[in-house]
Amino acid sequence: MDKFLIKGGKKLGGAAEITSAKNAYLPILAGCILSEKPIYLKNCPKYVDIINMTKILENLGAKVLPLTADGQIHNGCDIKIDCSSLSSHAIPHELASVIRSSIFSLGSILGRFKKAKVAYPGGCEIGARPIDLHIKGLRALNVKISDRHGYLTCDGTNMRGGTVNLDFPSVGATENIILAATLTKGTTKIINAAKEPEIVDLADFLNSIGAKIYGAGTSTITIEGVSKLSGGEYTPIPDRIIAGTYLIAGLICGGDIDLLNFKAEHNLALLEKLKSTGARFKTLNGVFNIKSDGRLKSIPKIETSPYPGFPTDLQAQILALQTVSRGTSIIVENLFETRFKHVPELVKMGANITVKDRTAVINGVDKLYGASVCATDLRGGVGLVLAGLCAEGYTTVNHVHHIDRGYYKLENQLQNLGADITRTSQT
Ligand code: UD1
Repeated sequence: MDKFLIKGGKKLGGAAEITSAKNAYLPILAGCILSEKPIYLKNCPKYVDIINMTKILENLGAKVLPLTADGQIHNGCDIKIDCSSLSSHAIPHELASVIRSSIFSLGSILGRFKKAKVAYPGGCEIGARPIDLHIKGLRALNVKISDRHGYLTCDGTNMRGGTVNLDFPSVGATENIILAATLTKGTTKIINAAKEPEIVDLADFLNSIGAKIYGAGTSTITIEGVSKLSGGEYTPIPDRIIAGTYLIAGLICGGDIDLLNFKAEHNLALLEKLKSTGARFKTLNGVFNIKSDGRLKSIPKIETSPYPGFPTDLQAQILALQTVSRGTSIIVENLFETRFKHVPELVKMGANITVKDRTAVINGVDKLYGASVCATDLRGGVGLVLAGLCAEGYTTVNHVHHIDRGYYKLENQLQNLGADITRTSQT
């Protein structure tokens, strides 16, 4: 298990290029299962979750071919996915348990084979994360599902389009239903669908290879089933959560950072909140620049909510920023019930935070102090790294394998911006 050693207090400066979005790439990889023709995906990020998803595809019989001289996946390389001769419709426990996104493959495998056997998904430990909405959606498409011994066994022999009314705009359930409905006869309607940019990207990708999906990005999505998809080439969108992380990294250290390949329109909720803090940002010739000269003002209230609201995946990072801002901030986590596991670690560093149920009250302090802290999930772990960047003295962030799920060598990216951070392997 690796850990980061950070010497805090360095101002960050320079440029960071935003890599592809994990949460866009994963469902798109699952979508490749639906096509028998080769698909070329650009800019493959080497996050551990992506590598695990390619292993799931390979286990089904897909060929995942990095277009590199040595045939290995390098961060940012292009890959060819060939699902012409899949040999399995099952995802075993060993593969499904490490990544929650294995659940998207259920919709794709069903679409392709009209049957599937998938072990319960794993992923970050940030609450119960049930899959009832996924199951409800697939049942509305006339899939028969049994749930035994940790596996969902699905019979889609009589699949047909249907109407799915989601009780909550779940990102994963919306994606799973889109994937299941793409090759299913008839028209499927998803009401109260999630509107995240990653949903739009999945629909854009599938439409580019022949699907008929309308309304992605709104709360009603219509899918007209087609009989087959073609091959093609696609570039998934940049990662708005990584972009938000770098942006906050610059602010927490009083820095001056340029973001390349940044889509401000995907981060409006964050930018809106930062407006009142004293941070300065502008876009010039397609480059987004953010600056701060010192301690920012606290943001009075932040509530996480589905897109276009404030993303839960940036909650830990913005919370870290609030610990050293001037004033009091209230953060309400509406998406996941146990997503404040980073708080006790930040308190060890001198932060003044009280949590009751889903609400954290943060009274900004003059400074944090380095300590040995432990990442317990992906985004919470990154929040601790940000805190370490501005803390006095040395911070050790343990269990950085959580962070590697969604960032590729975060330490290198931060070093390029001037941070003093190194990775060491724990034995
Ligand atoms: C996706 C993102 C994750 C992000 C989350 C919310 C991916 C790979 N992951 O996760 O990074 O934090 O969206 O923006 O894209 N729920 C149910 N029943 C279900 C499904 C979800 O009750 O069947 C609940 C969850 O427990 C949670 C809420 O709905 O409280 C949101 O979950 P959902 O939108 O499904 O998130 P994920 O797709 O798992």
